[in-house]
Amino acid sequence: MITNLTTGDNVTNELNYNITNLFPVSIHQIDVNGFDKVKDELINYAYDLQKQNPVGRQISNRGGWQSPTFQVNNKDDLLHSFLIKCFTKFPTIKESVKISADAWVNINKPNNYNAKHYHPTCDLSGVVWLKAPKNSGAITFENPHEFQTYNLIESYTEEFKQSNNYYHTWFFDPTEGRVLIFPSHLIHEVRENKSNEDRISVSFNIRLK
Ligand SMILES: [Fe+2]
Repeated sequence: MITNLTTGDNVTNELNYNITNLFPVSIHQIDVNGFDKVKDELINYAYDLQKQNPVGRQISNRGGWQSPTFQVNNKDDLLHSFLIKCFTKFPTIKESVKISADAWVNINKPNNYNAKHYHPTCDLSGVVWLKAPKNSGAITFENPHEFQTYNLIESYTEEFKQSNNYYHTWFFDPTEGRVLIFPSHLIHEVRENKSNEDRISVSFNIRLK
């Protein structure tokens, strides 16, 4: 039985070691210039929407309020036009591809969170944070190969994991005015809002044609 292949012979000087990373999972990040100028208006918009429909929807939100879904199509509407600006000039999608999107508003009060989920039937999904106090809940993605590669991930050196973003999970802290867009199949959750204030975001699903 081979018990330990990694010790004994000092053969590393004779070998060239290379890595080719294939098939990345790309997370797109867009920062909205001049967000501060529209921030308060958008936050008021979110609270007005909540007043119109105080019950909202229950999907992945645990305690938080989620608005009904709406199609993003009205250039004269404050939130619609903001969202259109955020993702219609997508620099890495071919211009011939048509982008359509549905969106909804989330208000997570202190202690609220969103359970693990993914967004079936869509191509890309995303979030833009309107109000994101410190510790109000990071969005956390699960490695899509988590089960199959569990032992492999555990076995890699810290240096390899750091330089290749190779972990079981990865999180992004919410940042006001920042848009994050990710493949819809990626399982994710929103951690508990541990601040004393509301955390407000707009989520969306994108379909590409
Ligand atoms: Fe989500």
